[in-house]
Amino acid sequence: MNMSKRYTITAALPYTNGPIHIGHLAGVYVPADIYARFKRLTGHDVLFVCGSDEHGVPITIKAKKEGVTPQDIVDKYHAIIKTSFEDFGITFDNYSRTSAKIHHDTASEFFKTLYDKHEFVEEVTEQLYDSEANQFLADRFVIGTCPKCGNEEAYGDQCENCGTSLNATDLINPKSAITGHVPTLKETKHWFLPLNKHENFLKEWILKGHKKDWKPNVYGQVKSWIDDGLRPRAVTRDLDWGIPVPIPGGEGKVLYVWFDAPIGYISATKEWAEANGKDWEPYWKDDNTKLVHFIGKDNIVFHCIIFPSMLKAEGSYILPDNVPANEFLNLEGNKLSTSKNWAVWLPDYLKDFPNQQDVLRYTLTANAPETKDNDFTWKDFQARNNNELVAIFGNFINRVVVLTNKYYNGIVPNPSEYAQVDQETLAAVKAYPSVIESSIERYRFREASQELMNLARLGNKYLADEEPWKLIKTDEARTKTIMFVALQIASALATLSEPFLPFTSEKLKNILRYAMYHNSEVISSAVETSWNDISKKDILLPSGHQIGKAELLFSKIEDKTIQEQLDKLEASKKANEAAKKTIEPQKEIITFEDFTKLDLRVGTILEAEKMPKTKKLLVLKVDTGIDTRTIVSGIAESFTPEEVVGKQVTVLVNLAPRKLRGVESEGMILMTETPEGKLVFVNPDTTVNSGLQIS
Ligand code: 2FM
Ligand code: ZN
Repeated sequence: MNMSKRYTITAALPYTNGPIHIGHLAGVYVPADIYARFKRLTGHDVLFVCGSDEHGVPITIKAKKEGVTPQDIVDKYHAIIKTSFEDFGITFDNYSRTSAKIHHDTASEFFKTLYDKHEFVEEVTEQLYDSEANQFLADRFVIGTCPKCGNEEAYGDQCENCGTSLNATDLINPKSAITGHVPTLKETKHWFLPLNKHENFLKEWILKGHKKDWKPNVYGQVKSWIDDGLRPRAVTRDLDWGIPVPIPGGEGKVLYVWFDAPIGYISATKEWAEANGKDWEPYWKDDNTKLVHFIGKDNIVFHCIIFPSMLKAEGSYILPDNVPANEFLNLEGNKLSTSKNWAVWLPDYLKDFPNQQDVLRYTLTANAPETKDNDFTWKDFQARNNNELVAIFGNFINRVVVLTNKYYNGIVPNPSEYAQVDQETLAAVKAYPSVIESSIERYRFREASQELMNLARLGNKYLADEEPWKLIKTDEARTKTIMFVALQIASALATLSEPFLPFTSEKLKNILRYAMYHNSEVISSAVETSWNDISKKDILLPSGHQIGKAELLFSKIEDKTIQEQLDKLEASKKANEAAKKTIEPQKEIITFEDFTKLDLRVGTILEAEKMPKTKKLLVLKVDTGIDTRTIVSGIAESFTPEEVVGKQVTVLVNLAPRKLRGVESEGMILMTETPEGKLVFVNPDTTVNSGLQIS
């Protein structure tokens, strides 16, 4: 069937400034892992690499905010992210990091090679500079309006709204992310990758080449960039966190994070090869190797235009065969956001749903944002679990295992003659590997996961139609055949589920005792079937084979559990709203004597009118209990005069009088302001006499 081939599979290196959330998993790591597992299962030579992306401005910003070093930040999150990947069964052959020496060396060398080949243009240009912070504003240090889509929060290197890759000087109304100041321009020297020079190659390779099989979202974006015309991109920066520019004149500058990060795939390969006594080069330099980059849509330009141009300029590397980028996942209708804590973080998920990694893997795959942005909802998560994993997959396996134990002490029975339905069912099972394979080959993981579920459905329906629990009383021979057929389906599920539900697959393989022991002796280790065996072999689980006891593969998720997750999100929303209003630090301590100097009284507003020619001021007549006096108050944007007449308020009566717009104001009304900017009176909660003292 499929000739063994070498695959280099990469998954985008995550920025190391926070943990991983479901959006990352759905967009990149789960599909990449399904693909890598599938390729291994079907006998290919697979290298699956990733690592932490530890340079770049967001890490520096986070370090500044927390008063620690960038290295502290990346050490912390590298460990957290690496553990999350392991916990969720993402089978990287190597998970490296870009602060590793091997990466610094590899990226420096790559840069020097291009420099020596005159592949860069060296130019002194004017760049944005924050004279308050004494620093050039590269990438995320500057925020402004995207010239293409008008998004007011575009970054200096990219607009995340429309995906356009930008130069910082393209931004309209740029502002420093450090001080908020409007930057000035200052001259500085940098090295540029002249993408315009690679335009013809990119056209040939992508547009005229065989890249029509790329996903339409990827092909479309790339085509429009090429059609718009490409410009040189600076690949160095005036920053102090990153890989030093390794050539004369590069002192005090570092490589642009997007120059070094994709080279991280190569250094991760080298690190793996060194640790395993292998040669790294065939994985990057042999034309027979298929290179596949799994990424999110915001990374398309870097993987389809910039990195291939770098690889081409270097000259000895292969180019990606495919870049199956996904769109974005939203959460309960809103964009996932690290800063707004609008996310389901993987460490939190595991705390709340221990040992239920496969439920999340399955939900994210079944609902993956493959062709358009998609929404993750906790209700859908519950439904996928309860109606599919529990009611179909789990239910089928449970019935098969329980009945086999009950009727035959767990020994696979001997079938007698197959009825037509048995033959059809077994033939259908044989077709599944290639059905699923065809979806995976087209990077349609949702479809593939649904085909897997269809196989479980087939098993469920077969049992429901044949009703062995009824036949056992009247026709033992037929019951044996039915159970034999059902066990073959269970066995196929154990293998075919591995890429999607690796933890379940392993559990199921244990239940079915793939390596068979009898009286402590291995009587068959050949029970484990490979992916390709399923379509070839007539029997997957032979008669006489002893299986184990039933174990629950999935369990129902109750409404209460889902509500707890929704409550958590609601709390995040509230916290965000509250955080919008910054809490002022406490003022200097005063003595009790200081406090007693304030004469605070309950007052009643008797009259109110707008101060002519002002927006904010109302002129009030207030009964203070001592007298009726005039107080000018800046509340006209929150209240009409009619609304305040009759209101009781707290008045500071012994404040020195002052004139506002020619009207003498004799005191002050105490107010507070909501996060939305509305003023609220500080008033007694029941009506009391004017003039009462507040203390
Ligand atoms: O978007 C991101 O999270 C980047 N850190 C991805 C880098 S992918 C690569 F090229 F390393
Ligand atoms: Zn934009």
